[in-house]
Amino acid sequence: FEQMPLQVEINGTLQRLKIEPRVTLLDLLREQLNLTGTKKGCDLGQCGACTVHVDGQRVNACLTLAMTTEGCKVTTIEGLAPAGPDGPLHPMQEAFIKHDGFQCGYCTPGQIMSAVACIREGHADNPDEIREYMSGNICRCGAYSNIVDAIMDVKK
Ligand code: FES
Repeated sequence: FEQMPLQVEINGTLQRLKIEPRVTLLDLLREQLNLTGTKKGCDLGQCGACTVHVDGQRVNACLTLAMTTEGCKVTTIEGLAPAGPDGPLHPMQEAFIKHDGFQCGYCTPGQIMSAVACIREGHADNPDEIREYMSGNICRCGAYSNIVDAIMDVKK
């Protein structure tokens, strides 16, 4: 396939890339940019492990062609903490630790990206609303109730 130019801001850094148009945002992040915090679970839009933000909206990176992010700002779990990797954690990361919002941790980056969007988009007023918004993020360990507790804690 022919490679095409793509300019996209990822975690605050402007990237000038050449990619094949068939490449997903998930594969671009993980395989070309080595941002492996974003996980590949199903690669079919069913598990939420690949959740990132594009211009502040959460998306499944496995369902997003990288070319469609031309000119956008992408945020991954690596770019969530405002002061960068050597600074303090984002409050949602702190809350997941405090409330044991994970066991194996594989779904956690996607859960946290969705959790941040949940509050930002105003869907965190009560546990039912949070469960509905978070229903696309699957956790096989079953940490769901602790994840809801973490989101409620950050919301208050
Ligand atoms: Fe994208 Fe499962 S890897 S939703």
